[in-house]
Amino acid sequence: MAPFAAATTTTVLAKPGYPSWRPLDRCKPSATATMSTWRSGRTAAMALGRRELLEERDEEWRRYLAPERQEVLAHLEPWAEANMLPLLKPADSAWQPSDFLPDAATLGGEGFAAACAEVRARAELVPDALLVCLVGNMVTEEALPTYHAMSNRFEATRDATGSGGDAWARWLRGWSAEENRHGDLLSRYCYLSGRVDMRRVERTVHALVANGMPMHAPASAHHGYVYVAFQERATAVSHGNTARKAGACGDPLLARICGAVAGDEKRHEAAYTRLVARIFECDADAAVRAMAYMMRRRITMPAALMDDGGPGGSSLFARYAAAASQAGVYTAADYRAILEHLIREWKVEELAAGLSGEGRRARDYVCALPDKIRRMEEKAFDRTKKKPSLVPFSWIFDRPVSLVLP
Ligand SMILES: [Fe+2]
Ligand SMILES: [Fe+2]
Repeated sequence: MAPFAAATTTTVLAKPGYPSWRPLDRCKPSATATMSTWRSGRTAAMALGRRELLEERDEEWRRYLAPERQEVLAHLEPWAEANMLPLLKPADSAWQPSDFLPDAATLGGEGFAAACAEVRARAELVPDALLVCLVGNMVTEEALPTYHAMSNRFEATRDATGSGGDAWARWLRGWSAEENRHGDLLSRYCYLSGRVDMRRVERTVHALVANGMPMHAPASAHHGYVYVAFQERATAVSHGNTARKAGACGDPLLARICGAVAGDEKRHEAAYTRLVARIFECDADAAVRAMAYMMRRRITMPAALMDDGGPGGSSLFARYAAAASQAGVYTAADYRAILEHLIREWKVEELAAGLSGEGRRARDYVCALPDKIRRMEEKAFDRTKKKPSLVPFSWIFDRPVSLVLP
């Protein structure tokens, strides 16, 4: 799991890859707002839109907790056993963080010091802008407890006991075990690089886990797996791009590290994408409506609530997302390409038979979305012509990165 989830109404509240979005629950009027101020002018109109969206959200996703929707997932449990579990690597054959980094126990004092010096020398070649992307990706991975908890809220596929024996429970634990290595490995590299203020990064991780993440359909597996399939691909793109750029600037170790993480994400993506494809085959109308519901709210990073505790800490995610976009690590074009890929994989354009009116509208919305995003890309490109500013990041000892902020 990693970079990028959340909200638009029929009006777009935020742009792909940019996080000018806030969790919907935080958009409610304060308890002290009077009805007259609440209803006045443009603010009232906007607030009403948000309130309607909240109501729509609750009504729509809760319908997916009905027994007939749960049966779809129950029916797919043998399929998950045969098709998802084989995509996980057992602990005995999976890579571990120690495989990549110097080990004092085997190298001895002098050998370890020499190996660490080599790591630092290569890390010196990584530009600050890419380093910020790497740290942001690592922070996102480190909030794994939040993602495990999120996935374990999905009705019908939960690991209800914590040691369940069905395919869904074993998948969730095995997936979490693989993900757990990602933050460990990236964090150890950052520590050894000597270029990262680890305490500020650790403080950011602490706050992110405490803040949690928004999930707009918190218990619906239909919606949740659409989100996770998108996220796994976004993560693979982000780590893969970081790997390529690290290799190009002369740090082959970092390239191998990010490449190994991206490889895991690709397997996870395959599992979740195939699962949602099966849901589409079993219940196309519900699946396409769930997909449209999630896309209307935008698939943004699960780390949207990151905060480093410094001045403007709540804008940290916006700065990180801008850095990722401008470094070519994760862009609006990547967001669109992932959506186009999923539309093809789930054969959304070909859906026709059996769709309700709502289902047809959902299909049409999803299929028209890539063109809308392309227009946003053009605006984002225009923005890059603006004068950049020097934006400091506490993660790298407040060294500034040249960015055009949205
Ligand atoms: Fe991951
Ligand atoms: Fe993953």
